[in-house]
Amino acid sequence: MEPPIVLSCLAGRRVHLGVCGSVAAYKALDLMRLFRKARLRVSVVLTPAATRFVTPLSFAALEAEAVDTDMFAAGEGAPFGHLRPRAVADAFVVAPASATTLARLAAGLADEMLAAQALAFSRPLVLAPAMNPGMWANAATQANVRCLQERGHSLVLPVLGRVACGEEGQGRLADLEDIFWALLSKLCPQDMAGKTLLVTLGPTREPWDGVRCWTNLSSGRMGAAVATAAFLRGARVLAVAGPGAPRLPGGVERHDTGTAREMFAAARSLWPQADAGIFTAAVADYSPLPLGEGKFKKRQAGESLSIAFSGNPDILFHLAAERRIGQKVVGFAAETSDLEAQATAKLEWKKADMIVGNLVGGADSGFAGDKNTVFVRDIHGRAESWPVLSKADVAWRLLDWLETL
Ligand code: CTP
Repeated sequence: MEPPIVLSCLAGRRVHLGVCGSVAAYKALDLMRLFRKARLRVSVVLTPAATRFVTPLSFAALEAEAVDTDMFAAGEGAPFGHLRPRAVADAFVVAPASATTLARLAAGLADEMLAAQALAFSRPLVLAPAMNPGMWANAATQANVRCLQERGHSLVLPVLGRVACGEEGQGRLADLEDIFWALLSKLCPQDMAGKTLLVTLGPTREPWDGVRCWTNLSSGRMGAAVATAAFLRGARVLAVAGPGAPRLPGGVERHDTGTAREMFAAARSLWPQADAGIFTAAVADYSPLPLGEGKFKKRQAGESLSIAFSGNPDILFHLAAERRIGQKVVGFAAETSDLEAQATAKLEWKKADMIVGNLVGGADSGFAGDKNTVFVRDIHGRAESWPVLSKADVAWRLLDWLETL
């Protein structure tokens, strides 16, 4: 599984992972791996029923700092192990959360270690239930879920599908990445709450004949990092994604598009709702004049081939021109030389508030990798060259800067 995001501001933050008795308990091991890849420190608690499905040893092998099972076990922290997460963890996530544990938490019972730790815990609690669809639909479970939500706890609801017993319905543990994002947002400042951000990302794909197209090497990773960071900071994110752009957190409002003109139409229709737009997409400036649905045959051309292209709208330029007072516009400039001069020229002629330039083709500055090396300039004359950073960290810093514009 790919590390979904590595933010240096979250490295070392502490998460307590609770695991209940459920066939889905084995997925908690993968969730733990995601947390570790994000450089979070993780401790674990298993209910007695969970130990019938997974062992403490597995979590210890994945670098859990402590694995609790028994409230009355001797050893480090005893007899106050139930208070350790309260003292050290920044957030507590229970995945999978069984019907029994939801009932315990709703009732305030503390008759086993996970429930006791949760009852004592006063920071964010995220619950990701998994169970048989009938158990989930039962009025008792639903009342417990409502009660826990009303108390301010976050629920990552189970999804529809086939569960282990063979029944179909709502009960499957939510996607691990969605649980991961829910947890991460609890660790992030919610300083963008109430804001709406439009992000364009990825390449565009301009069809030529029935099987060929004109596109580029953009991976969409930089835009995905921006969309994800803004989402984690509480913003409403409207993402207009080109073909093959990465998966985004479920809470991001994603609009998939193909051609530059489709991307333009989608972005333009969403733009009035946004407080700011960050335009990371590598949009085709030109499209080949389409030949139609049939496949072009080489005998139609001979030794060489010329293709006519027509121009596409510049999305950033048009939306900057149409903006209302206060709407901010951030552009990207992918260059192969003269980075600062080219980026500065684009800031001016596109009438952006800020431009983020990077040299494409470098090992730490390209379309495909997880890192980027950027030059940033804004309309107030502030300019900075940043060292090599993860795309997630570049995104985070850009949002910090955007907030000051
Ligand atoms: N952009 C856009 N629509 C286009 C072309 C570019 O919205 N049709 C945006 C990009 O998303 C980026 C910025 O404009 O934020 C600069 O894009 P870039 O590809 O670096 O430059 P171009 O404007 O296409 O100019 P050139 O190809 O000459 O460098």
